[in-house]
Amino acid sequence: MTNRQWILVSTPAGALTSDHFVWRESPVPSPGPGEVLVRTRMLSLDPANRAWMNGPSYREQVLPGDVMHGFTLSEVVESNASGFAPGDLVDCMGGWQDFAALPAEALTRRDNRQDPAHLIGVLGVTGLTAYHGLFDIGRPREGEVVLVSAAAGAVGTIVGQIARLAGCRVVGVAGGPEKCAWLTGELGFDAAVDYKAPDFRKALRAATPDGVDIYFDNVGGTVLEAALWAMNQRGRIVCCGAVSGYDKRGEAYGSPLIPGILVTKRLRMEGFIVLDNAMANTEAEAQLAAWVAAGQLKAKMDIVEGLEGAPDGLIRLLAGGNKGKMAVRVA
Ligand SMILES: NC(=O)c1ccc[n+]([C@@H]2O[C@H](COP(=O)([O-])OP(=O)(O)OC[C@H]3O[C@@H](n4cnc5c(N)ncnc54)[C@H](OP(=O)(O)O)[C@@H]3O)[C@@H](O)[C@H]2O)c1
Repeated sequence: MTNRQWILVSTPAGALTSDHFVWRESPVPSPGPGEVLVRTRMLSLDPANRAWMNGPSYREQVLPGDVMHGFTLSEVVESNASGFAPGDLVDCMGGWQDFAALPAEALTRRDNRQDPAHLIGVLGVTGLTAYHGLFDIGRPREGEVVLVSAAAGAVGTIVGQIARLAGCRVVGVAGGPEKCAWLTGELGFDAAVDYKAPDFRKALRAATPDGVDIYFDNVGGTVLEAALWAMNQRGRIVCCGAVSGYDKRGEAYGSPLIPGILVTKRLRMEGFIVLDNAMANTEAEAQLAAWVAAGQLKAKMDIVEGLEGAPDGLIRLLAGGNKGKMAVRVA
């Protein structure tokens, strides 16, 4: 048996292409003392994967020669650590490969009874990001207006649906009329606005006649700027990510409106990293699972079949080719 791997061969200077990766087959690693050998079941594809190539951030940089870093849902194959046994499902940074030998502290046990696609999506980093960002940072009140960007993506689809469950009016921003129609038709958003359309700002004003109380920002850049104009006084901006800039190394993508408009509108803008503390929030996971089980929250997935498709999947994700959570089914 071999360990199939994707290696990053060079740091992209601009848009990511498949030439930035090379396929390698290596021996399966042996776990050392205190380590666990895990096999990747599902690999999460995240816009952050691209941002990690640009330099150190809240975590280490992915460097040329590295097995590409990535969150995985993995199965324990062999264990030299107490507390883990073959067959256990775990969350870890298994990377873009079949097998990894990792210290037990780097693993988080998951519930084998849940659907693996839910564990990597709505009940994993994605769902907890949406939940923590909306409820702990955005603090919605019934009747408020929530605007969310990258609304048809992994985090955005969940933010929009759970904001509606919290009694808010929800407006999504997404690329293209088809995604916008999907958000209102399939996911129950109250309105959706295409940021690629020439009349985007006008359409945003029309979709938010009472202004915006919470803007859940997944993209930064020009969409953030348009959202700042739409904010009501004492609104909250949840800074979750800035995907509009990840694939354009070196280009500025901040808003010149900051801080002036924050001052005049008395806005609160706050960033967060879900890995800091939200992952341990079992209450959030239980609430998300309950909504999914009750049919109140649709967990939309975009699954790539096979590890071979990981680079093309990430490139497609960055170009907005996904609806819902993108992940690779590896085994
Ligand atoms: N803070 C945290 O702890 C945390 C955790 C997870 C994720 N995140 C962040 O959350 C955001 C969403 O992540 P996700 O996993 O849910 O990804 P996603 O939304 O499923 O995929 C990214 C989406 O971004 C949109 N996009 C790409 N370029 C854009 C641009 N220039 N302007 C506007 N939209 C653009 C695309 O949709 P369109 O077709 O609509 O363009 C694409 O589908 C990312 O910024 C990510 O880094 C943060």
